[in-house]
Parts: sequence; C-alpha cells; structure tokens
Amino acid sequence: MRAVRQHAYGEPLAVEEVPDPVAGDGEELVEVAYGAVNPLDVWIGAGAVAVAGPLPRTPGCEGVGRTADGRRVGFRGAGLGLVRDGAWAERVAVPADALAAIPDGCDDRDAAALGIPGVTALDCLDLAEVGDGSTVLVLGASGGVSTIALQLARTRGARVIAQTTSPNRVGQVSRYADDVVVAEADTLEEAVREVAPDGVDAILDPLAGPFAAPCVRLLAAKGTLVLYGASAGPEFAFGPQEMYRKNARVVGYSGLPVAPAATARSMEALYALVAAGTLEAVIADELPLEEANDAVARIRENRAGGKLLLRP
Ligand SMILES: NC(=O)c1ccc[n+]([C@@H]2O[C@H](COP(=O)([O-])OP(=O)(O)OC[C@H]3O[C@@H](n4cnc5c(N)ncnc54)[C@H](OP(=O)(O)O)[C@@H]3O)[C@@H](O)[C@H]2O)c1
Repeated sequence: MRAVRQHAYGEPLAVEEVPDPVAGDGEELVEVAYGAVNPLDVWIGAGAVAVAGPLPRTPGCEGVGRTADGRRVGFRGAGLGLVRDGAWAERVAVPADALAAIPDGCDDRDAAALGIPGVTALDCLDLAEVGDGSTVLVLGASGGVSTIALQLARTRGARVIAQTTSPNRVGQVSRYADDVVVAEADTLEEAVREVAPDGVDAILDPLAGPFAAPCVRLLAAKGTLVLYGASAGPEFAFGPQEMYRKNARVVGYSGLPVAPAATARSMEALYALVAAGTLEAVIADELPLEEANDAVARIRENRAGGKLLLRP
C-alpha cells in the first residue's frame, strides 16, 4: 500500500510502497478515507514531542475510514502517528477501543475534521465551565479547534467573541461568533474591551506566548483561561495579582492522556451534532498523500485557514 513515511525528524516526508499493516489482538484494520492534518503532526515531525516512538513511521494521529466488515469509523489517539504507524496511508491498524462509529447524516469528510479538534474544543469548554449566559473569548478563531469551539459554545447559550489575526478570515469566523475582533497580542485587550468592557468568563487559548498576559487581564471575576496550545510561543509571563485578586483560574489541557474509549464516545457525540445539523465541520482543503509536505508547511506558516485533510 501507499503510505507517507517519516525517516528523520525535521526532514521532508516521502510517499512509499510499504507492506499492509496487520491488525493485532484487539485491533481492526481500517481502509482510510481521510487522514486529518493537525499541528500535533507538525510538532511530532519536527521532533518536538518527547514521547514519539522510533522511525521510520507513518504520521497521522487521526483519520476516518471503513473497517473490514464495512462500518464507517473515526479514530484518533492510541499512539497512532506518535509511537505506531498512523493514518496518512491507505490502511492502518487501530485498537478497537479507539474506533468511533460514524452515523448516517455525518459524512466521512465532516467526521475527519472532528476528532482531535472537536474533542479538544469540547473538553476545553467543559474545563472552563462554559454554559448558558457565559461570555467566552476564543483565540485563533479560524483554526480547526476554534471553529468547533465557537459553535459548541453557542449551543450552550454562551455569548461568543472570536479573535483572529487574519483580516481576510473575518467573514468565515463571523458566521459562528457574536463579535469578531481582529487583533495581535498588543491590541487584544483594548479590542475585546470595546465589545466586553467588564471582561470575559472564559478564554480558550491555543496561542500562549504574548497572548497569555492580556488574556489574564481580560478575565472577569472567577474567570478561567484554558491554555491548550503554544502556536504563538511557549513562554509567557503575567502578574499573579491579576489572577488571584479575581479568583481567576489558569488551567492547561492536553488530549494525549485521555483514554481512547472516552475520546471515541466524545467523537460520537460530535458526529451526532453534525447529523442533527447543529454543528458544521469547516474543511479548508483536501490533498492527496503526495502533498503531505505542503499540508505540513501550510499549518506551520498559518496558511491553512481551517482543517486540512489527506486523501489516500
Ligand atoms: N492540548 C491539546 O490536546 C491540543 C489539541 C489540539 C490542538 N492543540 C494545539 O492548539 C493549537 C491550535 O490547533 P488547531 O488544530 O486549531 O490549529 P490550526 O487549525 O492550525 O489553527 C490555529 C489558528 O491559530 C492562529 N495562529 C496560528 N499561528 C499563530 C501565531 N503565530 N500567532 C497568532 N495566531 C496564530 C490562526 O488563526 P487566525 O488566522 O484566525 O488568527 C490559526 O488558524 C495548536 O498549537 C495545537 O498544537 C492542542
């Protein structure tokens, strides 16, 4: 079968003929329809994720496809693309407890955009206790996670403010937000206060770096900042008083330690929302496996503008 292969960290990927995978005990063979591309794949490929396994390896931490008995399934986690061969191939062996059933009304393409981004959005909104009447600020609003977070926050009855650095993405983002602010880190606080003078109850932040300090200042009393990425930089600083004087919380989230079975149930809940017409997957582009290097570059350089999928 054809598979994308990583032979060395930081080096370009290759597409090669490799033997078909063999499903072991408790695993199923999946014929891949789409492999999704996530920033996590980019970090892994750069050698920046400490737990990554030996090379060469097929990347791709998530995807969708068909089992041997014809079930449509999505899958993510369980070490795929990280410590074992992943989804950027024609076929992949997946632990059965990581398989999520895709219902009628949710097509393969939509499902492929909902694994890592959807579960991250869901879990971060839960961590920040976003509910009816909350005001929530979602940073990096055009991104895969944020596009879903905006929509899920609205279904919970929250007022949603979206931040983007990209003026050309305002139209796409405003579809899912009550207010959109175009701001870099140094203008974020002022821009958000124009629409929310008293600050916000929750912030979902995939950017960190210079964005973290204005976010802490923007939290209202008992507000929560969820840090789940570092797209704008790994280092940040803020005055502790800005946090403790408001009884505010700053919490981190990683999906990597979440059990595959729990993740699969969350994915099924997201697929059901798509089938019910409550949630839209936003796909920026789908590319053949041969263009995996281009997909990686688009994410690294913030040129993706939404979810990228690879088609075997
Ligand atoms: N902790 C977890 O379990 C977990 C799970 C999923 C993702 N993540 C992390 O969360 C982040 C977002 O993931 P994603 O899948 O949504 O990524 P994505 O689709 O590539 O979107 C990221 C968005 O962030 C903004 N952005 C990117 N680079 C930026 C920069 N240098 N400065 C300012 N804004 C920037 C862009 O939005 P605008 O153009 O609209 O500004 C971009 O669309 C990544 O860092 C990823 O590693 C973590």
